[in-house]
Amino acid sequence: MIGSTSGQRIGITGLGTNVPETVMTNDDMARFVDTSDEWIRERTGIRERRIASQDEALTDIALPAVREALADAGADVSEIDLLICATVTPDMLFPTASALMADTLGMRNAAAYDLLAGCTGFMYAIAQAYGMLASGLSKKALVVGGDLLSKVLNWEDRSTVVLFGDGAGAVVMEPVATGGFLGFELGADGGGGIHLCYPGSGSRHYEGPKPALMMNGREVFKFATRVMVSSADAVLKQCGKTIAEVDVYVPHQANKRIIDYAVGKLGIAPEKTVVNVDRYGNTSSGSIPLALADARAEGRLTDGALVLMTGMGAGLTWGSALLEWSSSA
Ligand code: ACO
Repeated sequence: MIGSTSGQRIGITGLGTNVPETVMTNDDMARFVDTSDEWIRERTGIRERRIASQDEALTDIALPAVREALADAGADVSEIDLLICATVTPDMLFPTASALMADTLGMRNAAAYDLLAGCTGFMYAIAQAYGMLASGLSKKALVVGGDLLSKVLNWEDRSTVVLFGDGAGAVVMEPVATGGFLGFELGADGGGGIHLCYPGSGSRHYEGPKPALMMNGREVFKFATRVMVSSADAVLKQCGKTIAEVDVYVPHQANKRIIDYAVGKLGIAPEKTVVNVDRYGNTSSGSIPLALADARAEGRLTDGALVLMTGMGAGLTWGSALLEWSSSA
């Protein structure tokens, strides 16, 4: 699915993030699986990640991010009429994380639902929120992206456990006077879904050990390098922009090698690229908002800056958005 937006200026007016307190370094990892700091850094660029405690669920980590985003936008909970939470690790399948958060916040006027698109969830969710806002169905929306993948990993599997971390981000989206989203490109290939799956997590009967995330790293790597480039190219072309015009590139933070490959193929300057996979690992749906927040903290999200975001993940899915940054409604 691809499209450029049609005149309706919808932007991000508030941004917030949160990660668990506990830092787990590569050396910490090497204490319980056969790995090393050197292997993890060379193959992934990851140095450390945050891991939620046994008592913490997704909404515990996401709610501080939501509150920060609301305060940043100067928005009252009563104004939010749509809450989408992109996650594959809600507190439980139902009630949804979004409904639970709306209740905790006293958000009485909002439709609230969870969205499941793997690590691409945040990209799908902002595209959906855009559609609702542009059509007038929603006036002010809250989009949350977050995952606690540490809860669904096999902690004896060194090939997956070193890659992921926990974290969440949230954005307020609403009509803006200038800038806003220029276009989206979203896609899915269920044929490749088997390469990154969580058997036993749903209604399909599963005979096997304790359900956990399973991944064919090489296949996902090949898929990732392909779609990180094709999706970004597609959305740029659709919006009549070139890579040279992009000011800030926010790729999904799965692996530094995947990011480096995409940077090289797209021909974007490395200094325009946001990288924080070294500090957080792959936080799935939390990845893009966490990277956006870093870009803003570094002063890169100035009004008018052209921001290219691309995500990819389980499904297999992918998604890109092009946004002219404008922080005021
Ligand atoms: N420590 C030490 N050795 C390891 C580890 C580890 N943590 N993990 C695997 N190895 C070993 C393997 O067993 C293998 O050993 P062998 O040669 O004796 O069989 C060797 O290292 C090489 O393994 P490869 O899988 O070939 O390593 P590769 O260079 O492909 O890197 C990696 C593996 C990092 C997983 C890479 O394939 C990758 O990043 N893939 C993409 C993963 C990804 O992005 N997933 C998230 C998608 S988003 C979402 O929705 C969740």
